[in-house]
Amino acid sequence: MNYIEPSREPLPGLGASPRLRRRAQGDIPEMLDLWVASWGAVYPDIDFNARRDWLIEQITALETGGAVTLCVLAKESQALAGFVVINPDSGWLDQICVGLPYKGDGCAEILMAAACAVSPGVVRLDVNADNMRAIRFYERFGFAQTGRGENTLSGRATIQMEWRAPE
Ligand SMILES: CC(C)(COP(=O)(O)OP(=O)(O)OC[C@H]1O[C@@H](n2cnc3c(N)ncnc32)[C@H](O)[C@@H]1OP(=O)(O)O)[C@@H](O)C(=O)NCCC(=O)NCCS
Repeated sequence: MNYIEPSREPLPGLGASPRLRRRAQGDIPEMLDLWVASWGAVYPDIDFNARRDWLIEQITALETGGAVTLCVLAKESQALAGFVVINPDSGWLDQICVGLPYKGDGCAEILMAAACAVSPGVVRLDVNADNMRAIRFYERFGFAQTGRGENTLSGRATIQMEWRAPE
């Protein structure tokens, strides 16, 4: 499969953290493995392996629409530890995921801080209503619940959440 070439344009608002960088062309296979394992631990009943092509298509569509994919690297090994897909024009955060070994070690915070830093003052996302770990993480970060909906892929109940930059 051919992957979309990531943009190399500088990203206003993104600091120069040595553990954070834009997605590189070669990151996709590792991102897919990480995403399948991380989501698989949350919903063991869903076959995330079968959704690899969906994720590539999703990221391609999002990046084509102006989103950027940012990767966080593990502290010691510098291995890919997680990624976030955020649109700096709309503030829509479509994907955030950290690898299993990196849950709870601050990688998700680095990603979310970067997403908020490049956002237009607001970050919006949908989360599955039963994904308690993610909801707890967002609330700790200052997100508020703003509405309810339904996941288009799974039909599961979702919660809309929103973070706003302090005035
Ligand atoms: C969501 C995600 C990015 C958060 O990153 P993380 O490193 O796991 O987050 P943290 O450990 O910093 O925070 C999770 C919080 O939930 C708590 N938590 C853990 N398991 C929980 C559970 N089953 N129910 C409720 N809270 C839980 C943790 O204690 C922590 O709260 P605390 O800081 O008050 O102790 C990560 O878990 C992930 O990649 N999940 C799979 C993909 C996913 O769900 N993405 C979000 C889609 S909307």
